[in-house]
Amino acid sequence: LLLTQDDLKKIAAYKAVEFVESGMVLGLGTGSTAKHAIDRIGELLQQGKLTNIIGIPTSKKTHEQALSLGIPLSDLETHPVLDLAIDGADEVDPHMNLVKGRGGSLLREKMIEGCCKKFIVIVDATKLVDYIGGSGLALPVEIVPFCWRFTAEKLRSLFKHAGCVAKLRVVGENGEPYVTDNGNYVVDLYFEKDIGDLVAAGDAMLRLAGVVEHGMFIDMATTLIVAGELGVTVKNK
Ligand code: A5P
Repeated sequence: LLLTQDDLKKIAAYKAVEFVESGMVLGLGTGSTAKHAIDRIGELLQQGKLTNIIGIPTSKKTHEQALSLGIPLSDLETHPVLDLAIDGADEVDPHMNLVKGRGGSLLREKMIEGCCKKFIVIVDATKLVDYIGGSGLALPVEIVPFCWRFTAEKLRSLFKHAGCVAKLRVVGENGEPYVTDNGNYVVDLYFEKDIGDLVAAGDAMLRLAGVVEHGMFIDMATTLIVAGELGVTVKNK
């Protein structure tokens, strides 16, 4: 039996949906893993196995998906406290700290997932890292478009000691800047070495005036569901 990475994402997602109860206000994540969870929630609603769910989507894309499935939606202003959020991640370290935002939705994800009583992270085993930045993939940072080169350079020099490279995220053939749901740009940071204290690194980034938010989700996840070739595990913090 050969499972694809997408099969594993689906297994983790379906496991997480077992924690959803009727009447919950739910944070709906973004990305290819969270998509499976939202599909499943829609299916259980249609079958009448879940009722009175209210979803708070973390991106325009997820908003569209949830609408198409008939999941009732609301927002943080109406529902400032959520029972549960389910979302994927790009990296998960041994302390359940995360990197998110390769899909570009880190700001809304952080706003919404910061208001949840329980935050379940769903990943396939390839997302597990020894330390944040350890996958060699990007740490995304949402910045304002105004003088973005200036902000990108400030970010790079903040992490000079870690061999940081900062790249504006671009899309399409002409390399247009990628624009977030909030009308901002994303700078992807790459590191040669461990950046060390994550809270200090995050705070330093947020002190730069052009930075809107960074993709480290420190001490936010409460439950981690990992699907691998040998099965699925659920770990609480
Ligand atoms: C979206 O901005 C991201 O934070 C996603 O949650 C993250 O990139 C995980 O996406 P996949 O489930 O597609 O890997």
